[in-house]
Amino acid sequence: METKIFKLLPNETKHFAIAEAAEILKSGGLVAFPTETVYGLGGLATDSDAAGKIYAAKGRPSDNPLIIHIAVPEDAERYAYTNELYYKLAKAFMPGPLTVILKRKDTVPKAVTGGLDTVAVRCPSHPIARALIKRAGDAIAAPSANLSGSPSPTSGGHVIADLSGRIDAIIDGGECDIGLESTIVMIEGDGVTLLRPGAITADALECICENVKIAPAVTEALSENEKPLSPGMKYRHYAPKAPLVLLEGDDEPVLSYMYRCQNAERCVIICYSEETEYLRNERVIDIGARGDLEAQAKNLFSALRKADEMNGEIVYAHLPPKEGMGLALYNRLIRAAAHTVLKV
Ligand code: TXA
Ligand code: MG
Repeated sequence: METKIFKLLPNETKHFAIAEAAEILKSGGLVAFPTETVYGLGGLATDSDAAGKIYAAKGRPSDNPLIIHIAVPEDAERYAYTNELYYKLAKAFMPGPLTVILKRKDTVPKAVTGGLDTVAVRCPSHPIARALIKRAGDAIAAPSANLSGSPSPTSGGHVIADLSGRIDAIIDGGECDIGLESTIVMIEGDGVTLLRPGAITADALECICENVKIAPAVTEALSENEKPLSPGMKYRHYAPKAPLVLLEGDDEPVLSYMYRCQNAERCVIICYSEETEYLRNERVIDIGARGDLEAQAKNLFSALRKADEMNGEIVYAHLPPKEGMGLALYNRLIRAAAHTVLKV
């Protein structure tokens, strides 16, 4: 299949490409588009055939449900049973990088929700995403626009590398602002359980509702036979070609460990900007300044893609803190490392 590629600036919401992409969606096709978190691979949320095509294009297991993307928070009514807490969360965080799990209405076919009676709803803030949803006139079901097993795409180039030839069109809107997927919460009574951490942090959620639980699978490995709260938790999200080892310890011993490794092994080192001058190895990747968790989040997935391209025998990175935005970085890295942490 030939994939149409449209290059747009993030605010070019009147571009003819949006109308053309919306027509592709309405006729059952697939379009990848930018959001503020990562790129999504979209099909109409009410079209079960489109859902089948999404799973096929990504090579994704069909029991791992899709998030549906809406233009305004109230549009959730068409697809799900909302409640008071949903609107409290929506008022605080939507449009933006928050996904809420709600009870599904029959307008959303089970093919989209992996057979579940719940549906994940998100109202993205990216102008192109919002314009596309509005123009399509229906919610857009969209997982991250990567091949199953590679890191989520944070640039048009990543999507082109993974999905060109497999889908109808790609809207390349440049780099994503946040770079990690949305925060996912499940509403339970007057509280929420955090299923996937993202840019809306646990602390931010606590400002809106007192009772915020963090699902154990966010930081720990699922035990065998344990049923995950979110099907995605049971899949290894991304497995680097070379084993990834996370280094835990104070800055100085970690840096000297990296320094020694670069001389002894064919390793890739993902480090802070301040450390690059000490690591004169050709396989060093700068993930951002030490204290700048937002920059590190933005760079993480492209760093992991680069690490794969460098063909090292082993990859080292810092173990992120579990606080604030750090929890989202920790969650992605600990899974990519299959929980391999080395204390130095
Ligand atoms: O930022 C994002 O959320 C991006 C952009 C494109 O919006 N999308 C994204 O989708 O990351 P995906 O499919 O890669 O991840 C969706 C996650 C999966 O782990 C899935 O298991 C979980 O959401 N999920 C979807 N529906 C669910 C449901 N009904 N109950 C529990 N978890 C659900
Ligand atoms: Mg994904």
